[in-house]
Amino acid sequence: MTAADTASTGTPGTLYSRITDYANRPDPYPLYAELREHGVARQDDGSYLVGTHREIAALLHDPRISSDRRNRTVPDEVQGVPVAFIGRDDPEHERLRAIAMRPFGPPHAPGRIDAMHDEITAIAEELIDGLRGRDRIDLVEDFAYPLPVTVICRLLGVPREDEPRFHTWSETLIEGFDPTPGTDPAERQRVALQARTEMGLYLGELAEARRGKPSDDMLSAFVNDPGPDGGFTPTELMATAVLLLIAGHETTVNLITNSALTLLRHPDALQLMRERPELMPGMVEEVLRYEPPVQLLPQRTALTDVEVAGVTVPKGQPLILVLAAGNRDPLRFRDPDRFDPTRQDNQHLGFGSGVHSCFGAPLARIEGQIALTALIRRLDNPRLLQDPPVYRRSPILRGPRHLPLGVSGITD
Ligand code: HEM
Repeated sequence: MTAADTASTGTPGTLYSRITDYANRPDPYPLYAELREHGVARQDDGSYLVGTHREIAALLHDPRISSDRRNRTVPDEVQGVPVAFIGRDDPEHERLRAIAMRPFGPPHAPGRIDAMHDEITAIAEELIDGLRGRDRIDLVEDFAYPLPVTVICRLLGVPREDEPRFHTWSETLIEGFDPTPGTDPAERQRVALQARTEMGLYLGELAEARRGKPSDDMLSAFVNDPGPDGGFTPTELMATAVLLLIAGHETTVNLITNSALTLLRHPDALQLMRERPELMPGMVEEVLRYEPPVQLLPQRTALTDVEVAGVTVPKGQPLILVLAAGNRDPLRFRDPDRFDPTRQDNQHLGFGSGVHSCFGAPLARIEGQIALTALIRRLDNPRLLQDPPVYRRSPILRGPRHLPLGVSGITD
């Protein structure tokens, strides 16, 4: 028996199938504790789950670990489809990320995200103004979803009124990489591929329409100001724009909703935030640790045999890094199951780490801080009407599908 075999969970239904089982979406944390006890858990399909903070952090910085699914013994990337830089390794990843970053942040556009502070505040306030007269709201539909969508549309230069189109594509794409048991992976991939192609063509056309007519958005910058090292090819542009639009609107919604849910479940913390609004940045970091919007990274592969916590992960096997389990690792965090907005030592894995660490983190952070500040100040006596709420399907991008709240009014 090899070390890998002993690491197998040996339970009927592997640990991963229980983690991805929709029935466990409201509370996956006991499963994550089980995973940490195994260290590394080999699954029946030959993939390896990792759930301890030290090992995940090390793997995220390890050049022997690839984000490119073509390196799998059984490659599961659809051939011929442009894949964005999140699914590529350096040096290709580095080149594409640098081009994408040029209009988004330092060194070329250092003030870009901070400059959006007032605009995001105005969007948040306007959405809350629209809730006047209601005694019941759905925080997701009424606030947490429209806020980041409006922001990413303005940033990229995508017409807000096209949201129903790209939302459908985006949902299909996300379902495509969800390992939901019982569904046909080939069929899911086919449908996802179609959605990705349509979305890419749509965004490519929007960018092309701006060629020679620069406007103040990222799609325009991609075609009109490519920088000294050259810009994207048309397919690279499409793949990057699809990634940014999806990442920009399917993650921050969970950050806002998970934050509101967590605060309403912890009235002392909510009261503290009312009294000391300056704690908001730390509160958002604590949600990114305690209820992270991205729970796991399913697409790493070992480029060579790699030893992880005494287990050999063979070359070409899928490696699944469960960030949310690492975030509650008692070897790294004191009292990890406690939600503590004043926590100081908080190097969570919510935005990943290493070369692929979240590109949009500065934007997501200010969106979360502005959103929660506005909600806490303006919702009078908010109450959870359903706990646990109904969750979105995805085990990866985990958050409530709806969050019904009772409110006594909206203050000015
Ligand atoms: C709370 C909100 C967000 C969370 C929790 C989050 C989380 C993450 C995580 C964990 C990764 C690492 C993926 C990996 O290592 O494979 C990542 C990568 C990425 N994120 Fe985010 N993200 C958020 C918001 C955003 C936003 C708003 C944008 C775009 C404006 C964005 C764009 C990206 C991109 C482009 C990557 C790929 C980076 C690379 O491969 O170099 N994210 N994000």
